[in-house]
Amino acid sequence: MRRAVARCFVTRVLPGPALDRLRERHEVDLWPERLPPPYEELRARTADADALLSLLSDRVDAALIEGSPRLRAIANYAVGYDNIDLDAARARSIPVGNTPDVLTDATADLAFTLLLAAARQLPDALLSVQSHDWLTWEPSGFLGHEVFGASLGIIGMGRIGRAVARRAQGFDMTVLHTGPDGGVPLLTLLKRADFVTLHAPLTPETHHLIDAAALQAMQPTAILINTARGPIIDQAALIEALRRGEIAGAALDVTDPEPPPADDPLFSAPNLIVVPHIGSATRTAREAMANLAVDNLLAALDGEPMPHPVHTE
Ligand code: DGY
Repeated sequence: MRRAVARCFVTRVLPGPALDRLRERHEVDLWPERLPPPYEELRARTADADALLSLLSDRVDAALIEGSPRLRAIANYAVGYDNIDLDAARARSIPVGNTPDVLTDATADLAFTLLLAAARQLPDALLSVQSHDWLTWEPSGFLGHEVFGASLGIIGMGRIGRAVARRAQGFDMTVLHTGPDGGVPLLTLLKRADFVTLHAPLTPETHHLIDAAALQAMQPTAILINTARGPIIDQAALIEALRRGEIAGAALDVTDPEPPPADDPLFSAPNLIVVPHIGSATRTAREAMANLAVDNLLAALDGEPMPHPVHTE
C-alpha cells in the first residue's frame, strides 16, 4: 500500500544529500534563505505542515505548535532542543527528535581549539602578524598559559563533556567534573580549575549558572570556554569579570543573544574570543546531522518511533 505524502516545512538548506531522501517520499517546502524564516513566516508555513525540520535558531513555541493542527513530527537539526516547547509538543503527542552523537567529536574538538587559542593568545598573535606589528622575537611577547598538565573543570559530563575529557588526557590534564560518578561540587571545580568548559544543556537550572559569584570563585588566571548555550553564562557578569581581571580570559562559541548586536559590550571586552556557533561545523558532522533529522521525520511520518527521540518526560 502506498503511504500518504506528507507536507514537510524545512527551515534551511542542509548540507549533503539527506533532504533528497525526504523529497523522494514527501512534499518538501524548503526555506531557501541564509537567514532564518521570521517567526511569523515560520508559524504561517508550519500552520498547514505535517512535519517540521527546524534549526536551533527557530523558535518552536506553544503558539506555533497549537496553530499547526496537522503537525505530527518535529525534527530539530541540533542535539540541543531548548528552542522547542516540549510541553506543548507533548500535549499534542507530537514526537520531537534531535541529532545526538554525530557532532560530539566536532564539538569537543572546537572546545579544545578554543581552550588552546585562548591559553596562547592566538587571536592577538595573529592580528599582530596581519597588522605588520611582528617586529622581532620578544621574550615577553604574548605570554600565555601552559595547557599541558593544567587542570580542566568540565561542567556537564555528558557525551561532549566526556569527549573533551578524553582529549585532556593527551595533555596530561587533571580533569574535574560536576555531577555523578566522581563529580565535585560546582564551587570546588570553579576554585580549582585552570580551565572551565561548559557542556550542559540549557534548562531553567543551568540558565546563568555561571553568574558573577561563580566568576569570582574562579582563579584570576583561569579561562572559561563555552560551546554549549549562551544563556548558561550571565554575559553582563562575564564582561565585568574580564574588565576587572577576575578571570584571565574566555572563549565563546555561543552567546546570548545569537548573534550579538554590533554594539554589544561583548565586542569590547578584553581577553575574549567569540566565534559564530561553529561547534558542529565539520562537513562530516553537519551531513550526519541532516541524515539523523531526516531519519527522525521519515520514521514519525510512517507512524514509527523516531530513532533519535528527545526524551520529553
Ligand atoms: C547543537 O547541535 O545543539 C549545536 O549547538 C549545534 O550543532
